[in-house]
Amino acid sequence: MTIRKIIVAIDGHSSCGKSTIAKAVAARFGYAFIDSGAMYRAVTLYALRHDLVADGQVKKDELIQALPQIKIEFRHNSSLQKSDTYLNGENVEEEIRQLPVSQNVSPVATIAEVRAAMVRLQKEMSKNKAIVMDGRDIGTVVFPEAELKLFVTATAEIRAKRRFDELTAKGETVSYDEILQNVQERDHIDSTREASPLRKADDALVLDNSAMTREEQLEWVIEKVKERLNF
Ligand code: DC
Repeated sequence: MTIRKIIVAIDGHSSCGKSTIAKAVAARFGYAFIDSGAMYRAVTLYALRHDLVADGQVKKDELIQALPQIKIEFRHNSSLQKSDTYLNGENVEEEIRQLPVSQNVSPVATIAEVRAAMVRLQKEMSKNKAIVMDGRDIGTVVFPEAELKLFVTATAEIRAKRRFDELTAKGETVSYDEILQNVQERDHIDSTREASPLRKADDALVLDNSAMTREEQLEWVIEKVKERLNF
């Protein structure tokens, strides 16, 4: 008997715990997890290092020209049982999560050519299905045929608080107001950009996790995956 393999597409606002859910679901079913946001973050890190973006201003044509020089991969980190993001052979997993990248990633992700290159890579990585991918346009653009689509959200204040707690726990000194502003700005840019704006696919299920624990969310999503697998 061949076991049915599906694609789970998880979209939603920034810092609403999409990756945490996606990772846990992937682990539960033995699926691969792909963090598409990490790819846009890696491009942004490249742009920051090459002076192609600063203060949210992107040198668009130069960045488009540089795209063939940007190689992004995920490699399994066996000691931590997770996958790390590599930019041109260098592990950049930590650096892409820091504020300079967060502050510049949305404008980079508005560029249609950058998106086209990332979507191509995302499709290539998912040839064999059995994938959980999270992002903003996975259910609408990358995999409109995904068997299960989720749209995750929570209030901006709750998302900022979660992000604040996460960074503070890592020992970083950050301001809640700055994080809230960043979350709201990213929501605005992500939802209003011309190329693949963040929107719920018509057939996506909404998961508002403002008042849900991780366990409750996971249980809810696992049920939905099981329903699809028993088709
Ligand atoms: O999920 P994240 O916060 O790591 O995403 C970083 C940025 O990348 C975010 O501002 C939106 C953008 N992004 C996107 O445009 N499309 C995706 N599929 C994933 C992320």
